[in-house]
Amino acid sequence: MILVTGGTGLLGSHLLYFLLTSGKNVRALKRNSSDLSELKRVFSFYSENADELLSKIEWHNADILIPESLEDAFAGVSFVYHCAAMVSFNPDDKAKLIKNNLNGTANIVDACIQYHVKKLVHVSSTAALGKSPDGREVSEEMIWTPDDQNTGYSISKFKSEMEVWRGMEEGLNMVIVNPSVILGPGFWSKGSSLIFKKINAGLRFYTTGGTGFVGVNDVVRSMVYLMESDISGERFIINSENLSYKNVFTMMAEAAGVRVPNIEATPFLGGLAWRLDTIKSWFGFPRAITKEAIAAGRNTTIYSNKKVVGKTNIKFESIKDVILSTTKYLKQT
Ligand SMILES: NC(=O)c1ccc[n+]([C@@H]2O[C@H](COP(=O)([O-])OP(=O)(O)OC[C@H]3O[C@@H](n4cnc5c(N)ncnc54)[C@H](OP(=O)(O)O)[C@@H]3O)[C@@H](O)[C@H]2O)c1
Repeated sequence: MILVTGGTGLLGSHLLYFLLTSGKNVRALKRNSSDLSELKRVFSFYSENADELLSKIEWHNADILIPESLEDAFAGVSFVYHCAAMVSFNPDDKAKLIKNNLNGTANIVDACIQYHVKKLVHVSSTAALGKSPDGREVSEEMIWTPDDQNTGYSISKFKSEMEVWRGMEEGLNMVIVNPSVILGPGFWSKGSSLIFKKINAGLRFYTTGGTGFVGVNDVVRSMVYLMESDISGERFIINSENLSYKNVFTMMAEAAGVRVPNIEATPFLGGLAWRLDTIKSWFGFPRAITKEAIAAGRNTTIYSNKKVVGKTNIKFESIKDVILSTTKYLKQT
């Protein structure tokens, strides 16, 4: 039996779809408060038999913060994909993020050990990697350093990874994936998908700087490959291309057939600073307009995908193609 946490989110819903269409038996966690409508929408993008596929998921009500709620869910489980995490870039959420993601991952690691799970694939983020001080490509070897500019999300993902490494020391067979910004259909009102909706609605501003991007189905394929391989005790950056925000915004606007954002939201224009802040927050920068946030928002970080390509031979879909197919689904919504 395979267990998926975070199955009601963007990545988890695509993972569930992939596993079910590969004929696997899948159990998934949801909370009492979970909303399954976006998951259903994602399934209906890809299949005419969405309801039939959905009925094959064995749901367990559990909160990763409550170890007792995980007991039934872990019985008979051999493989765990841990996608659940709180994702927020609001500075006010810092304590909540660290508690949810760190303690939740610690509970998942403990349950994996207690129930003799054969392998855990933990979803981390490029936010948990160190920064490159001189603009060089960031690889899996880059060491995370405490820094005033680290967001609560980044700290929470770094500390969560530490729990997974602790699990490895205690005998757990595990792999960590560090995806860059994930693009894919559904969940239009939050996270990285929100930008599609904003551009479709005529957003006029773009920001300087750039980062790594990857299609959601490539993240899923990498995770499944790594789960089914003999690889253990390693982490992998999952990144298709490093692109400027301007380039990505332009591709999104062209795919949607709307005006290309053509006004640079420079940090020098005080009146436009909030736009920079808002746009950057969709890609993972902190929401408050601080000097540090504006400086960080103009950064370009380049992520290496050499390790995962070398080990798995994966051929990443281009971001242009990911944007074209995602926009097609947005138009259907
Ligand atoms: N999206 C990106 O660009 C990106 C990039 C790199 C890494 N990641 C990582 O990828 C993973 C999935 O991200 P996503 O974009 O799919 O996020 P998402 O759409 O916000 O989904 C988050 C999922 O986590 C679940 N969750 C959160 N706290 C939980 C708790 N205490 N107990 C049980 N379930 C809980 C949510 O359940 P509910 O439905 O109940 O809220 C939801 O299913 C996360 O680990 C994230 O850090 C995302």
